[in-house]
Amino acid sequence: MFFGAQDMTDKSIVILISGRGSNMEAIVRANVPGARVAAVISNRADAAGLAFAAAHGIATVVVDHTAYPSRAAFDAALQAAIDAHAPDLVVLAGFMRVLGDDFVRHYAGRLLNIHPSLLPSFPGLHTHRRALAAGVRAHGATVHFVTPELDGGPIVVQAVVPVLPGDDEDTLADRVLAEEHKIYPQAVRWFVAGRLTPTADGRVEVADARAERFALHLPPLD
Ligand code: GRF
Repeated sequence: MFFGAQDMTDKSIVILISGRGSNMEAIVRANVPGARVAAVISNRADAAGLAFAAAHGIATVVVDHTAYPSRAAFDAALQAAIDAHAPDLVVLAGFMRVLGDDFVRHYAGRLLNIHPSLLPSFPGLHTHRRALAAGVRAHGATVHFVTPELDGGPIVVQAVVPVLPGDDEDTLADRVLAEEHKIYPQAVRWFVAGRLTPTADGRVEVADARAERFALHLPPLD
């Protein structure tokens, strides 16, 4: 092809990370049809995921939050770095900064996050520890659109895992993470295929019955 292997009509995805980047890696490895990961941006220069992205020929950018005098200044710099890649979709994948309302509104309808709990339970930090302390039997992860309310936007897909006797924070986190790596690429595939439809009452529908069934991912019990 004249422009090389990359179809220039592909949707552009920018992924934001702060650390390990295993969800970013799962999305890159999924090779979502009709999309390309244009850039991986981190607020930390030492984010381990940057090396994976660079090794896969993806542009990497660091926007160090400590270099900006205010959250608004950081958000503006981050927005400029993202928009340089004209993204159709921005994916937060373990991005550990709270983003301001203006930033969130700028990407309304094209900003996804993954949160390691069954929202609306356990928004915020230390979700696995809090799930264990609460004694819940089911835990999991949620992919949702981002709105100004922290971990509060419309839910796209959830995965449920059991909390097993003897679990600690690490074993539970590992079980949830394995499911995150399935549902995040799935959500991105649906977005790119145009299957996610907002409803008038602020939810999201997955636009066909078969897909909607998989919007709840239930792994079999051992
Ligand atoms: C994941 O558990 C994600 O749900 C949470 O932060 C963790 C990031 O892990 N938001 P990774 O950087 O994708 O490996």
